Amino acid sequence: MGVLWWYSSAVLVRLLLGGCCFCLVSSAARVERAAVEKSVTGVCDIPGCNCSDTAKIWKIINCTFNSTQAIELLPGTVPKQAMEISIIGGETLTVKPSAFDSMVGFNLLRVDGTRNFVIHRQAFTNLSASSLLVQVQHCNRFILESNGFKNMQTPIIAEISSCNQVTIKNSAFGRLQAGKFYNVQTLDLEEGAFTFENQGQIGRHGPVTNLSFLNVRISEIPKSAFLSVLAEVNIQDSIIKNIHSEAFKASQISSVSIVNTTIHRLQTGAFSGQSLIFNFVLSKCIIHTLETQAIMAAFTNFTVQHSIITDIQLTGITSVASNFHITDNQFKTIQEKAFVLSNFNRVYFNHNIMLNIEKSFITFDVITDDEVQEVTFVGNEIHNAKLKSLNFISHLPKHTAIKFDDNSFSQQCYCDMGKWLRDLFDNSEMNVDFALDTSFCKVSKTLSHCFKLNEGLINMKNFTELVCGNETEIYCEPYHGETKTLDTTATMLFDEMEESINSNMYIGIALGTLLILAVCGTVVILLIRGGIWLKRNGYCMHFRNIRLTQGEPSHDDERVMVDLERNGPKNDDNELTPELLMRLREALNDPDDDIKEQARERIEKLYERYITSDSYTNNNRQDEETHLYEELGNLQNGHGHQSTR
Ligand SMILES: *[C@@H]1O[C@H](CO)[C@@H](O)[C@H](O)[C@H]1NC(C)=O
Ligand SMILES: *[C@@H]1O[C@H](CO)[C@@H](O)[C@H](O)[C@H]1NC(C)=O
Ligand SMILES: *[C@@H]1O[C@H](CO)[C@@H](O)[C@H](O)[C@H]1NC(C)=O
Ligand SMILES: *[C@@H]1O[C@H](CO)[C@@H](O)[C@H](O)[C@H]1NC(C)=O
Ligand SMILES: *[C@@H]1O[C@H](CO)[C@@H](O)[C@H](O)[C@H]1NC(C)=O
Ligand SMILES: *[C@@H]1O[C@H](CO)[C@@H](O)[C@H](O)[C@H]1NC(C)=O
Ligand SMILES: *[C@@H]1O[C@H](CO)[C@@H](O)[C@H](O)[C@H]1NC(C)=O
Ligand SMILES: *[C@@H]1O[C@H](CO)[C@@H](O)[C@H](O)[C@H]1NC(C)=O
Ligand SMILES: *[C@@H]1O[C@H](CO)[C@@H](O)[C@H](O)[C@H]1NC(C)=O
Repeated sequence: MGVLWWYSSAVLVRLLLGGCCFCLVSSAARVERAAVEKSVTGVCDIPGCNCSDTAKIWKIINCTFNSTQAIELLPGTVPKQAMEISIIGGETLTVKPSAFDSMVGFNLLRVDGTRNFVIHRQAFTNLSASSLLVQVQHCNRFILESNGFKNMQTPIIAEISSCNQVTIKNSAFGRLQAGKFYNVQTLDLEEGAFTFENQGQIGRHGPVTNLSFLNVRISEIPKSAFLSVLAEVNIQDSIIKNIHSEAFKASQISSVSIVNTTIHRLQTGAFSGQSLIFNFVLSKCIIHTLETQAIMAAFTNFTVQHSIITDIQLTGITSVASNFHITDNQFKTIQEKAFVLSNFNRVYFNHNIMLNIEKSFITFDVITDDEVQEVTFVGNEIHNAKLKSLNFISHLPKHTAIKFDDNSFSQQCYCDMGKWLRDLFDNSEMNVDFALDTSFCKVSKTLSHCFKLNEGLINMKNFTELVCGNETEIYCEPYHGETKTLDTTATMLFDEMEESINSNMYIGIALGTLLILAVCGTVVILLIRGGIWLKRNGYCMHFRNIRLTQGEPSHDDERVMVDLERNGPKNDDNELTPELLMRLREALNDPDDDIKEQARERIEKLYERYITSDSYTNNNRQDEETHLYEELGNLQNGHGHQSTR
């Protein structure tokens, strides 16, 4: 009985409890469902939207929002059969997770003029149309969260243009066929931004994804930004502050082209050693610093042309490539072993202007003997070449075809240029006729007079023949051979670039100075004017006394002041003009002695400048000739302007 009672009461309690629990659970579920039903408005019911059935099944949705509307697309907002959505305007558009899930035909999302647009993680999942075009334009802020597109059968074409700030987070595009970023003021890329899933099948015939960046500012390209294999990366008209280590880490990129772009810093390993890049072109770019081992990738064709590079550090470019084309660039400093080139067939290092090259700046590392090799070093202009800087010439295998031609050195010519070249080549035994015959050196001012040259460069061999022959005398005859002038624009350019870097500081200093000058000027003028006023009104006897003791009769001080002001600063215009002469003549006739005195001094100065300077030049010319003969003597004795390096 007791047991039965216990048992039945236990069952009762359990029933009661169970019922309660069921009640709780079911009521909670009802609340949740109600909430969902309440908050999810179909997109066709959002004010400003217009849905139309094109073929009964698929839908095209157009919405135009006003500038205060904030729209959220939740799961269920967009009908499953939607095909295209175009949105114009609105303050904020947010696409929540799973808002676009398992849709079969969805192929176009266009967002135009919406101020803020956010795509949350897994907002687009399991789509399976043949392609999806995502266009975002004219926005203030666009954020694409990590895995925003996930599990996509659909390849995406993303076109993002004319936005202030765009952020692409890790693995944001599940599967990207093309990504175009145009006119973006700030593009933030997170680590792994261009990492794609399931590229496998589509990439059977090589990489398929193209990325292009046009007129974009990127402050950092972080590690692994380009991680998946890519067909093309084009960067044009853009500014990049910093390319981090392993930014380009994709195992394969068919083509990288960077054109008309400024890159401040390429960090060590920016183009990682794990990458194979078939075609690499850097053209019309400005690069400030290329750090040690910044470029390590393997290439088929590696081209750097028409670019301006300030500093390539030790082993900056350490690469394997079939063809290296380094042409028409301007380099400021190329440090030791800046180019370490391996396994090449051809190296063209032509028409570059180099301000400073260090020892072994080009180094050939692994040279395969079986391939035909060609190396050209032609038409380069080298301002400051360190000893052994061109030693690659001595380290080429015998069967390499080398063309060394038409190179100019900002080195003063002297008789033993052969030795100077051998020092550059780091080979004291070498026959350097090939270089002597085709290279140019700088003729000193005095010798330029002798050969009636404009100051410039002449052929080394010809110089030797003209100046260093057996004859005891040198005949000063006009030189008819080829001459060259060094392009100093490069020097100026790099100076300018450095200045512009410091310009903010200078502008600050200049403004400060101007301010101080203005204040001082004002004070001085106030003092002078005040003094004149005081004097005129008889308050300042002292002032008048001083003027009077200088033998000044009853002339009005104010006029003197004005004249002084007018003439004082004008002293700078040392041009002898008719106006100036007229003024001086008037001044000489002025009854005021002070003014007369000033004019006399002025005339004396002008006389010195314009009349006596000719004879001064003549004297100089004689000196110069003496100097010339001394110099010639030195050259012939072989102690000319030796390389100081
Ligand atoms: C914008 O549209 C919303 C919804 O239609 C409306 O409530 C609001 O008044 C509109 N605002 C302006 C400034 O037109
Ligand atoms: C919706 O689109 C249809 C067809 O283009 C058009 O006739 C209608 O005026 C539009 N309605 C609104 C509110 O824009
Ligand atoms: C939707 O907008 C696009 C342009 O954004 C327009 O070409 C298309 O005709 C519009 N469709 C409807 C149904 O209004
Ligand atoms: C998407 O598809 C995958 C595999 O086909 C499935 O596991 C996943 O549940 C789907 N996701 C959604 C949100 O339906
Ligand atoms: C990538 O660009 C190349 C050349 O511009 C083009 O041939 C190719 O079709 C593009 N691929 C894609 C997926 O757009
Ligand atoms: C180079 O890029 C800048 C923007 O960085 C642009 O203003 C300029 O027009 C471009 N030059 C050429 C020749 O395309
Ligand atoms: C490399 O450049 C040469 C021409 O300079 C071209 O014929 C070749 O196709 C290029 N190689 C690749 C892999 O694009
Ligand atoms: C210079 O003189 C040496 C011996 O006096 C002679 O062998 C040589 O041919 C001369 N060279 C020239 C360029 O005259
Ligand atoms: C060297 O001088 C000769 C004779 O003046 C001239 O014909 C030749 O062009 C010059 N060589 C060069 C490279 O200027």
